[in-house]
Amino acid sequence: QQVVPYRGQHQAGITTPAAQEAIFIAFDVLARDRQGLQATLQLLTERIAFLTQGGPAPVDHPKMPPPDSGLLGSNISADGLSITVAVGASLFDQRFGLQAQRPRQLSQMQAFANDALDAAWCDGDLLLQCCAHSRETVIHAVRDIIKHCPDKLAARWKMDGFLPAGAVRHSSTPINLFGFKDGTGNPDTADSAQMNALVWVDDKDQEPAWAKGGSYVAIRLIRFTLEQWDRTPLGEQQGIFGRDKASGAPLGKTHEFDDPGFAADPHGQQVPLDSHMRRAEPRQHGRHDARLLRRSYSYSLGLTKSGQLDMGLVFICFQSNLQTGFIATQHRLDGEPLEEYIKPFGGGYFFALPGVSGSDYLGAGLLQ
Ligand code: HEM
Repeated sequence: QQVVPYRGQHQAGITTPAAQEAIFIAFDVLARDRQGLQATLQLLTERIAFLTQGGPAPVDHPKMPPPDSGLLGSNISADGLSITVAVGASLFDQRFGLQAQRPRQLSQMQAFANDALDAAWCDGDLLLQCCAHSRETVIHAVRDIIKHCPDKLAARWKMDGFLPAGAVRHSSTPINLFGFKDGTGNPDTADSAQMNALVWVDDKDQEPAWAKGGSYVAIRLIRFTLEQWDRTPLGEQQGIFGRDKASGAPLGKTHEFDDPGFAADPHGQQVPLDSHMRRAEPRQHGRHDARLLRRSYSYSLGLTKSGQLDMGLVFICFQSNLQTGFIATQHRLDGEPLEEYIKPFGGGYFFALPGVSGSDYLGAGLLQ
């Protein structure tokens, strides 16, 4: 019955440790004016307050549809639920007169060289990231929100995510579907100075005042060609990431968190120069050339049209500056050997709203 407080300077679900289960769902807003958008954000905040706190389910009446799905019984458990709300560039079109309030770098995600973006899996006015300890809790939360907002939100795309149970329980680095530890190189979320520098928008950033305390979100739905990967020799797999598959250590080192020592390996004898880790984080300016915080989940759908496993990664990262964060890092990765095994097909850029305090609703600053 763990409660993750939804109030605070920042929203939960960003530096919060990643729970095992997730749903990412993007919506278009049906409101036509600013008042309608305000009503939508107020109702969303109310639902988030209730769902993340938990408590007795509302009372049924036999002549009315049950107010709750019943999925969690009569006492709704908080179950570590966090719901993070982010807005897309389309929210800042002429509908709500918010053009001047758009976070400066928020735009529609453009395709990178290896992408095969499918419009049905991209963008949206709002993105919700729901994370909790069990699948039924995130499903219950999404059903609750959809049930309460039939005239306010139209779902656009949805992807379920999961992490290995053992990693979450033992707070170790989760293993992705390629079988590699994923998250080792992340900055330390307990280091608030680092989080202020890399993740949260503040006075250092040239952004509208309301955006302070928020964060840019880059989410990418990336399909893996796992059948092909599973026939690839171990040495090649390790060279592609630059890390040992079992320990997660940089190649040539012993422990997961060992420094790769790139300066002593200028020609990439140990860790190949074109490996994922070295391109993503060349460590040319000390640590964190990649100015972002990753919080990705695996996904598993059915089969692709060609009868292969449809599995991959919901890559998601948070940053105070989208250009120096995701976009610059992705450009360093363009053309990497890993591309032979991955195909990004959806996602988008969003801006996670600042946190709420007191009786405010999420996005109140934006609509003031
Ligand atoms: C590191 C997997 C996409 C940025 C890693 C590592 C793995 C991995 C296994 C090494 C362990 C670690 O430090 O976390 C993947 C997979 C991807 C993917 C399977 C997609 C199919 C991306 C994207 C970006 C990115 C799109 C950003 C644009 C990074 C960064 C590191 C990293 C910054 C840290 C490198 C370090 O500090 O050593 N990734 N990644 N990755 N990845 Fe990715």
